Amino acid sequence: MLNLNSNKINRFKKLLDSYSYDLITQTLADRPYINLDSYLSEKKGEILIKLFYFQKKFLIRELECNFGQKYIDELLQLGVLIRNNNYISSLLKIHSLFNLYFASSYVDYRALDYAYFGKDSLLLSHYLPYNFKSSSTLDLCTGTGVQAILMANNSTSIIGTDISPIAQNIAQFNVLLNNVEDRVKIINGNIYEPIGKKKFDLIISNPPYISIPNSFEYPICGNGGEDGLLILKKIISDLDLHLNQSGVSLILGNTIGNDKEPFIVDYLKSNLMKFGWDIEIVVIEKHPKEEEMFNRTLLLTNHNIVSSKNAQAEFQNMYERLNVTNTYIYLLRIKKGKGSIKKTNIFENSINEKISKVTDVTSFKTIEFLMINSFNNGHYKRVVELYKVIDKFHTTFNIPYTKELLYIINQSQGKQSIKKT
Ligand SMILES: C[S@@+](CC[C@H](N)C(=O)[O-])C[C@H]1O[C@@H](n2cnc3c(N)ncnc32)[C@H](O)[C@@H]1O
Repeated sequence: MLNLNSNKINRFKKLLDSYSYDLITQTLADRPYINLDSYLSEKKGEILIKLFYFQKKFLIRELECNFGQKYIDELLQLGVLIRNNNYISSLLKIHSLFNLYFASSYVDYRALDYAYFGKDSLLLSHYLPYNFKSSSTLDLCTGTGVQAILMANNSTSIIGTDISPIAQNIAQFNVLLNNVEDRVKIINGNIYEPIGKKKFDLIISNPPYISIPNSFEYPICGNGGEDGLLILKKIISDLDLHLNQSGVSLILGNTIGNDKEPFIVDYLKSNLMKFGWDIEIVVIEKHPKEEEMFNRTLLLTNHNIVSSKNAQAEFQNMYERLNVTNTYIYLLRIKKGKGSIKKTNIFENSINEKISKVTDVTSFKTIEFLMINSFNNGHYKRVVELYKVIDKFHTTFNIPYTKELLYIINQSQGKQSIKKT
């Protein structure tokens, strides 16, 4: 657990600030192919990026020489760094977004509980209602507290709740790291349970929503039960008790569905409209089920949770049983009103449809994403392996490689991986 000493946390923030950690890692998150060479001539800055963004370990001697023994001891006391024999590594990954800092757990996927920060965290952060002035905001399933902290300038008071004590601790650390402790409070507990009967102007959430066969143990940050709606249904069923009359709720989700639409639409029609809610559902991504299965199977098998064959069979059974052909990512905006539902699709249909006909491998978009991730983590061999898969799609569909991808492929070929792939 992190030690929540605000003076020490502030000194840590100043250190990151003094080497432009925020600007550099924000750029890296968007453009992982960027050439860091000129920056890396700055020794201390290079160490910070490698330690807190790329999770590289360092000899204690090297860290003490650069930052001083007293300072390294302070980070060890905070629990940010951990010592293993002569080496020191970071227990956190520090991300940056809108010039703020967000620590998340250094993820070991075998762990069932950790403070998650991912692609969906970034996604929701871009849709938050920054122009909505709220006197009270609730961020359900707050994780690292990212969305709660991002809303700090627009809300008088914000509460983030999360069932994970690890997430709560890291979110509290992030609250102090961004100096918003006067407005943002993080409470440990199950969905609305920690807030009693309190009502809010704004309720936001990026809940766990991945559709996972019941037979698997899956990290709690992602597990949405078989239909992916386990937590979402609980959030929605009590929304009436916690949203003010003129309040708004914004939820990011990912659900299974058929070719026409995500199954959530039916659920919303039968459960929310009767309470007189006006619901907007904007579907922003549509994926063939094979792609989702590929992603989940990769995650489960990479870390020896189950064998690849078993994982695929379980997903296939579940999808067949539930008549799933696709998965969708969507945003839900809910207000009190007359009882209406408006659905808008803004995903690129044509490419996804072409890909959904390919049943042996997943779509190139997922693989592109995995390639960028692998490159970022120094898994160059994996990048080359994935390139062999992706090349087939690029040729079949005559899709040109992006500049970024070409750079990643060229850089990875013939290069030793820095981590075991
Ligand atoms: C997908 S993560 C999102 C975290 C954060 N909101 C973000 O956008 O990065 C989902 C979070 O929900 C939390 N969670 C899972 N089940 C929960 C429950 N029943 N009540 C409250 N939080 C829960 C997990 O611990 C995890 O931190």
